[in-house]
Amino acid sequence: MRIVITGASSGLGKHLALAYASGENELVLIARREEKLEEVAEQCRHRGSCVQTIMADVNDFDLMKKIAGELAQTRIDRIILNAGISVGHTAGVTPFGDFHRLFQTNFLSVHALLEPIIPKLMEQKSGEIVFISSLASLMSMPTSVAYSSSKRALNAYAEGLRYQLKPHGIEVMTILPGFIDSEMTQKNNFKMPFLLSTDAGVQRIIKAIRQKKRFYPFPLRFYLMIKMTLLLPQFLRDRIVNFTNFKKGA
Ligand SMILES: NC(=O)c1ccc[n+]([C@@H]2O[C@H](COP(=O)([O-])OP(=O)(O)OC[C@H]3O[C@@H](n4cnc5c(N)ncnc54)[C@H](OP(=O)(O)O)[C@@H]3O)[C@@H](O)[C@H]2O)c1
Repeated sequence: MRIVITGASSGLGKHLALAYASGENELVLIARREEKLEEVAEQCRHRGSCVQTIMADVNDFDLMKKIAGELAQTRIDRIILNAGISVGHTAGVTPFGDFHRLFQTNFLSVHALLEPIIPKLMEQKSGEIVFISSLASLMSMPTSVAYSSSKRALNAYAEGLRYQLKPHGIEVMTILPGFIDSEMTQKNNFKMPFLLSTDAGVQRIIKAIRQKKRFYPFPLRFYLMIKMTLLLPQFLRDRIVNFTNFKKGA
């Protein structure tokens, strides 16, 4: 399989790359930090994969389109849109610059990369597009306004795309992790419920992709807690949100 992974220099992207690394898979790994990406690539090569690394900022949309055009010259079996950022949790007004950066990286970059690739997948009549969203997309907290918004936009995009592409034999999957140990979560200074190790989180993602889950929120207990909270009357939800936000010390 030829698998493209964005954000492969650390965290989930890195461990997905390592998990897929074998003689059967050719990998295309994208991220900005050259040294880290090359380290991951080297480990993947040791496991038998042929690896192409692309040092690029996904926010450079013209570059993304160019890279995607080149990638689409050859068959693509799976593309995992994983590159993402969060900004520090504060209950204050999000600076526009942070908001812009979050939407660029977590949402807009995705279509810059996919626009030239989708026609290729349609021509192939096959392929898998995997979005790494977040449980935070389901319920916006006062401390994660911009992050939750960017991931919810991603969910809406993925949903529409799934309907568009299903008749062409293309699978679109949205993965919504809770907290998983990574560089991103290591910056968090609050208690993260149901925190999973990187390996446990990545194994669940791999299983969901193998089973072609269209929408996969996990861990289940955390997802059910969110779903149940969303079913409550608004005044009770407000109380719960205020309480958990207070606990984060925001
Ligand atoms: N960890 C969690 O608990 C959790 C939960 C829900 C969802 N997620 C999502 O999972 C994805 C991976 O996050 P992670 O936890 O693995 O965090 P991470 O370790 O910080 O990894 C983020 C990856 O994205 C890449 N990236 C960020 N901005 C980029 C840019 N402008 N251009 C190119 N690459 C960029 C980074 O590479 P460079 O810095 O080298 O460019 C890095 O490889 C994100 O979309 C995140 O929102 C994570």
